[in-house]
Amino acid sequence: EKGGWSSFMAKEISEEPEAVAKTILGRVHDGLVDLPEVTALGAEVLRGIDRVLIIACGTAAYAGMVGKYAIEQWARIPVDVELAHEFRYREPVLSPNTLVVSISQSGETMDTLMAVKYARERGARTLSICNTQGATIPRESDAVVYTHAGPEVAVASTKAFVAQIAATYLLGLQLGQVRGTLSDDEARGLVAELQEVPEKLRTALGVGERIKDLAHWMANTRSVLFLGRHVGYPVALEGALKLKELAYIHAEGFAAGELKHGPIALIEPGQVVFVLVPSPRDPRSLHSKVVSNIQEIRARGARVIAIAEQGDAAVLPYADEVIRIPLASPFFEPMLAVVPLHYFGMELAAAKGLDVDQPRNLAKSVTVE
Ligand code: F6R
Repeated sequence: EKGGWSSFMAKEISEEPEAVAKTILGRVHDGLVDLPEVTALGAEVLRGIDRVLIIACGTAAYAGMVGKYAIEQWARIPVDVELAHEFRYREPVLSPNTLVVSISQSGETMDTLMAVKYARERGARTLSICNTQGATIPRESDAVVYTHAGPEVAVASTKAFVAQIAATYLLGLQLGQVRGTLSDDEARGLVAELQEVPEKLRTALGVGERIKDLAHWMANTRSVLFLGRHVGYPVALEGALKLKELAYIHAEGFAAGELKHGPIALIEPGQVVFVLVPSPRDPRSLHSKVVSNIQEIRARGARVIAIAEQGDAAVLPYADEVIRIPLASPFFEPMLAVVPLHYFGMELAAAKGLDVDQPRNLAKSVTVE
């Protein structure tokens, strides 16, 4: 079943390009997104949505956090992301104009299922983004957009994560098209970029050997920090989660802009910090802000591993290692930047002699609250 791979996780990371490609396949017509699963809710309903609430757990919630930036930008609807277990214990404000989007690979996660049921009972519309045909969560939802990542066997979610981001983007584009917040030209441009992601992911997979070496010399590391900004922030959280669950080491993801509000006190000589560097072509100059963060932590002795796009020379003087990802505009970076982090979690676990596919204390599908 592993087909020559050292683990299911290795195989599943290698399938990230196809996971995105298959999730997009058949859902673009004439250059625009066509999701009948969503449009079946009716144009009036879709135009009337005044809030999107994404509910999910773990890695799926991080995919939702990435999706939030895109849906807000493209459909101009406020989006909140909430961890599923927090949802129904505080009487959340819901209305028929609230679209509750659940994200789940398995479609069986109890926390997420109970949140969906709760939302539906209280009159919200529910849409499930799910990787498992006919699972319980999609059956309990008004609509479902399947991700087509294929079965995920390793406990740590990888290819489902990139497929989930792609699905939230399809949703954001579809809503933007229906609501008229995106012109056809804008939508077509974004769809074209989304369609380029699988090929870029194939290139991104090329970092595997480099990460293996890196993980090898880091096998005794006790703590790793991850910094990201904007869509890079959830990617930082995802990188940290993978290290915790796979390599059993303490890892935290921080919003780079929060550094001086506390976390920078953690930086001491030798502390390893991964930094997700936004593109220098980003018009909002987030790049220079993150580069100054790198300078700040470097000045305090951090060992900086920058994940930056091809050709970004600004990071070179300050980073100990630079991992390159292909050029993409800001929204399309997370699916690429997560590849080295998925590899890193896997390779650090392997370097420590741990079971990559079956980390201790964890189950693939969490069917208890
Ligand atoms: C982390 C991981 C978990 C799952 C979470 C939700 O690598 O796999 O955090 O993402 O348990 O699972 P699903 O998506 O099946 O609801």
